[in-house]
Amino acid sequence: MESAVALKIAIVGMGGIGNTHARCYQEDPLSEVVAACDIIRERADAAAEKYDAPAFYSVKDMLASGIAIDAASMCTAGKENGGDHYQPTMELLGAGIPVLGEKPISNEVEKGREMVALAKEKHLPYSINLNHRFTPAAVRARQWVDEGRLGKLHIINMTLWINNPNETSPWFHLRALHPHSIDVMRYFCGPVKSVQAFMMKGEGRTIWSNAQVNMLFANDVVGHLTGSYDAGGSFGLEQCEVTGSKGRFVIDDACEVLTWTPRDSREKEVYHYLGGMMSFSETFKSRIHRWLEQLAEGVKPEDVDGSAADALAAQEVIEAAIESWETHSVVDLG
Ligand SMILES: NC(=O)c1ccc[n+]([C@@H]2O[C@H](COP(=O)([O-])OP(=O)(O)OC[C@H]3O[C@@H](n4cnc5c(N)ncnc54)[C@H](O)[C@@H]3O)[C@@H](O)[C@H]2O)c1
Repeated sequence: MESAVALKIAIVGMGGIGNTHARCYQEDPLSEVVAACDIIRERADAAAEKYDAPAFYSVKDMLASGIAIDAASMCTAGKENGGDHYQPTMELLGAGIPVLGEKPISNEVEKGREMVALAKEKHLPYSINLNHRFTPAAVRARQWVDEGRLGKLHIINMTLWINNPNETSPWFHLRALHPHSIDVMRYFCGPVKSVQAFMMKGEGRTIWSNAQVNMLFANDVVGHLTGSYDAGGSFGLEQCEVTGSKGRFVIDDACEVLTWTPRDSREKEVYHYLGGMMSFSETFKSRIHRWLEQLAEGVKPEDVDGSAADALAAQEVIEAAIESWETHSVVDLG
């Protein structure tokens, strides 16, 4: 459904995820898809037909066409699922267009820093699709943290695992998957100051497909991340547990079950499918809606939720975990 004030959205990268973004924008009354861009012509053409918008075969051509664009979704992939993001993102930001990028912000942390710096220089909203925390369960739990329901925060344990046989890079599992888990951990506990990691290659694998990562947060919370590309759907997708001086919450599978346990009683509160969100796949819709809402409100770039700066901070933790494993040491973040 379109509205008179619908934001005009260009999608760059029309693979599976670009098409998922496009469907969310199409269904959201705050937006309309005005351009479908892919360097593979057939993909751009197919999307153009589906979303009734012109096709472009490069960001340069799209910008040169003079078409009005309020914001872009950047859904390319590349090495470690982030190697292709840099160039088109820099072109879009350079043209003054707010960007919602896919994760990882980049597989090369230095390029991530450049992208965040350009958005800051241009004073543009630049956000990443860190969708795992855009769930009513996570928002409720964060409200409990902010209100002091947990008391002083003590411990966070996060697990995120899927089955992914991709063997293209030794660090693929860390760089491509864990922007999500680390972002959820930072959402509840803030910045990370020190990292220590152990990793192992699963049966028949050549990459570091399993990882155990310890983190010390700036507020002294001690955290742990379990990650794997050798899991099955039967293991569930993820679990996040936070304990504090007054109680503990656990979120199962991003949105499905939120459990509160007070420290001094056995009276649990259990919420199933808060806000009617039934599964992880619905997070694309909620995350994109929040991006649109913030753009429509004229959000200050520094206030954007799930910002590129947050994504960069998560990527810095990933690089610290890699360094820790390679050097058998604890790595401090600056
Ligand atoms: N947030 C999530 O939950 C989630 C889930 C899965 C994947 N992802 C991310 O989504 C991104 C896309 O994944 P995918 O599976 O759709 O990848 P894909 O490879 O299927 O699609 C990427 C598309 O980008 C195009 N492309 C590359 N460079 C381009 C450029 N310069 N200009 C225009 N188009 C260009 C490619 O031709 C391709 O069609 C990845 O970064 C991945 O990590 C996010």
